[in-house]
Amino acid sequence: MLVDILQKIPTEFETARTQNRMMRRDDAAQMLHVWSDPDVTRFMNIENFSTIDQAREIILAILQEKTANRYIIMDKMNSELIGSFGINELDLNTLNAEIGYELKKSYWGSGIMSEVLQTFMHITQSTTGILTFTAKVDPENRASIKLLEKLGFDYDKTVTELDMNTKTLKNVKQYSRGII
Ligand SMILES: CC(C)(COP(=O)(O)OP(=O)(O)OC[C@H]1O[C@@H](n2cnc3c(N)ncnc32)[C@H](O)[C@@H]1OP(=O)(O)O)[C@@H](O)C(=O)NCCC(=O)NCCS
Repeated sequence: MLVDILQKIPTEFETARTQNRMMRRDDAAQMLHVWSDPDVTRFMNIENFSTIDQAREIILAILQEKTANRYIIMDKMNSELIGSFGINELDLNTLNAEIGYELKKSYWGSGIMSEVLQTFMHITQSTTGILTFTAKVDPENRASIKLLEKLGFDYDKTVTELDMNTKTLKNVKQYSRGII
């Protein structure tokens, strides 16, 4: 059960080109198409997936988190599931939400993620009182850094995180954005 503050965010919303709704268990097969592409997961801190059970497992884990949520992104033109995004962790003391996101490779460079995140952050701040957003990015993930800068995030600091693939510690850049 989500904490009250996250329950205030609408479970679905649209943007010019996309329809977005909370992720469900039965999205596993379509999410596997996204998460099984090593180019997509290269800079995401998750293991690369090859089976539907792995996709189901991570969706279940996300749905059980009280301070996290995840939405799927659908292309309005063809109803194809093209990616996901959401709050990885809400800090209830500081009212900061750390976000995460990914898009199918064929949709990269179309500006869709910035369209979706802009709307999501606006809706989230106006419905919940969440104050700030952060994102942790691999220093080599230039597309993600560019996207964050376009969305008004600034480099905050470098933090250490456990790499789920190598099980070693690695440095990632933290970006943050206040109320705009
Ligand atoms: C991060 C991601 C969502 C960005 O999506 P996108 O569709 O490229 O986003 P946008 O189209 O809004 O583009 C962002 C900007 O980065 C630029 N860009 C894209 N790839 C780039 C690259 N390899 N090097 C430098 N800049 C790049 C784009 O040109 C664009 O800038 P512009 O608007 O000035 O032209 C997408 O690359 C992705 O899903 N990557 C895999 C998952 C991932 O890394 N998630 C983030 C984990 S922190």
